[in-house]
Amino acid sequence: MRLKRLSTNHLLSIADLDREGVETVLRVAERFKERYLAGERVIPILEGKTLGLIFEKPSTRTRISFEVAMHQLGGQAFTYTKQELQLGRGEAIKDTAAVLSRYLDGVMIRARRHEDIEEFARYSEVPVINGLSDLEHPCQALTDAFTIREKLGRGPHTVAFVGDGNNVCSSLALVCATLGWDFVHAVPEGYECPDRVWREVERRAEESGSEARVVRDPKEAVREADVVYTDVWVSMGDEAEREERLRVFRPYQVNEELMSHAPEHAIVMHCMPIQRGYELTDDVADSERSVIYDQAENRLHVQKAILALLMG
Ligand code: CP
Ligand code: NVA
Repeated sequence: MRLKRLSTNHLLSIADLDREGVETVLRVAERFKERYLAGERVIPILEGKTLGLIFEKPSTRTRISFEVAMHQLGGQAFTYTKQELQLGRGEAIKDTAAVLSRYLDGVMIRARRHEDIEEFARYSEVPVINGLSDLEHPCQALTDAFTIREKLGRGPHTVAFVGDGNNVCSSLALVCATLGWDFVHAVPEGYECPDRVWREVERRAEESGSEARVVRDPKEAVREADVVYTDVWVSMGDEAEREERLRVFRPYQVNEELMSHAPEHAIVMHCMPIQRGYELTDDVADSERSVIYDQAENRLHVQKAILALLMG
C-alpha cells in the first residue's frame, strides 16, 4: 500500500487536517476495509512498531479498535490508565512525553483536558493522537465521515446534530465544514460548541462553500437532513450537572416522532455508548435507519489509516 504522509505530525484536532488530509485518511481507510473484507486480516506495515494508549477516562471502542488495529498492522499496542503511570502521581507531562518517545513509536491519549494532550504533543518526539478530550474526538469524526460516505455516497450531505455541543459534535462539525457538507446543530442555549471551535467551523464552511448553523428547534434541524446524529446528554466529566442536563436536553431526544420530520432516507448515527431512553430511544436505535454498529466497526478501519499515515 502506497502512503502519502499527512502534513501534520500529530492528530489532536480535525483542524490539524486540511481537506486533502481528511480525504487521504478516508481513502486509505477504504483500502484497509476492502482488504479486511477480502480476508486480508494482517497488513504488516507497522511491523515492530509500538503504540502506547493512555486513558484518563473509560473506553470500549477506542481502546479495542486501536489495540486490534495495531495488531493487524503487525505492531503492538500497550494500554495504561493514567492512574497506573507516574503521571497519575504528578510526574510532569513534559517528562513523561520525553521518556515515552524513547520507547514508543506513537501515543494515543484520552484525557480530561485537551490542553494536557497539546502539552504532551509539544514534548513528544513521536506522533500523538487525541483519543477524546473535553474539546474534540477527531478519530470518531473521521470514522463518521467514512460511514456517511459508505451509506450515502460521496456527498455533499446535510448532517443534523441534535444535542450537546460536546467533543463529538465539535469534531463532526469541523469535518463536515472541511468536506463541504452542511451542518445544522439543534442545541439549547448555553450548550453550543465552544467559540474556538465554531469560529474554525465557520471559516472552513466558508472556504468549502457549505453552511454551518445553530438552531433551537430539533424538527427544523432534521427537516432536510441526510444524517441525524446524537450523543449523550451527560458526557464523561459532566456528571455533576446530570440532573440539570437531563432536564434541559429532554426536548432534544431523537425518537420516532422527531424522525417522522426527517426525510425517509435519513440515517441515524451515534458515537456510542448510548444512554438508551435518553438522547436516543430504543425503537430508533434498533431501527433500519440506525447505522450505529457499522459506525463502531468502522473505527477499526479508520484507526488503521490514521496509524499508518502517522506512524508508517
Ligand atoms: N465512541 C467512543 O469513543 O467510544 P468509547 O468511549 O467506548 O471508546
Ligand atoms: N461525548 C461523550 C463521547 C463518548 C465517546 C463523552 O465525552 O463522554
